[in-house]
Amino acid sequence: MSADNPTRAKGNALKHVCIIMDGNGRWAKKRFMPRFAGHKAGLSALRKIVAACVEEKLEVLTVFAFSSENWRRPEKEVGLLMELFATALTREVKKLNENNVQLRVIGELSAFSDKIRGLIDDAVALTADNDGLVFNIAANYGGRWDMAQATRQIALKVQAGEMKADEIDETTIEAHLSMSGLAEPDLFIRTGGEQRISNFVLWQLAYCEFFFTDTLWPDFNKKIFLDAIDSFHARQRRFGRTGEQLKEE
Ligand code: IPE
Ligand code: IPE
Ligand code: MG
Repeated sequence: MSADNPTRAKGNALKHVCIIMDGNGRWAKKRFMPRFAGHKAGLSALRKIVAACVEEKLEVLTVFAFSSENWRRPEKEVGLLMELFATALTREVKKLNENNVQLRVIGELSAFSDKIRGLIDDAVALTADNDGLVFNIAANYGGRWDMAQATRQIALKVQAGEMKADEIDETTIEAHLSMSGLAEPDLFIRTGGEQRISNFVLWQLAYCEFFFTDTLWPDFNKKIFLDAIDSFHARQRRFGRTGEQLKEE
């Protein structure tokens, strides 16, 4: 436990939170507004949660911004989401950098326009040396995509004679996933009432704690975030062992 990390000062160590920011469309619909208004409001909620993570001295925040499957949405919504992504990358990065946040983007980035890829490269380069919160944006990300790309990298190494097939173990797979080197997610939050993973992080959720809330993402705020963290601390993470064994430690 570390006194300078408020989120670790009680209960379980909390390093990494991952969030499925869901419910933007329904939030807008309730207000008779276009779905895009919900996405814009969602960006404001995200800004507050990133600030809360910085205040709480979390190591990593990973958010699901656009899934591999979200291309199936109407072309107009996809186009507006891309515009919002580009605007956010342009406008938010300076503040992130001032707050010592290291920005990363995980996912199949080749599908994005040259403009967006350029903005991602600039933002990542600008913040690369920051040693505060690692803020991972999962964009055109899918847990299955991640496992497939890791498998491909490993297969190529075997093919090139750099490693043997029988040397492949869990550590090898982890090392080739797009979040390699970061603490595994400890807490998974999904807003918007659905209780599913929707092809977000898969491998690393093996022992993650889940928190679902009906709150729609644009209404999500620091108070509910801290409630989720409190709920996390109240749990006994047994990792296969018995509760009695943990008390003996
Ligand atoms: C999540 O909100 C944002 C993205 C998937 C980009 P939704 O757009 O899925 O909102 P609902 O689920 O339709 O309310
Ligand atoms: C998951 O939400 C993806 C993001 C939040 C970016 P969806 O709204 O796309 O998930 P499903 O389709 O309801 O499972
Ligand atoms: Mg949704």
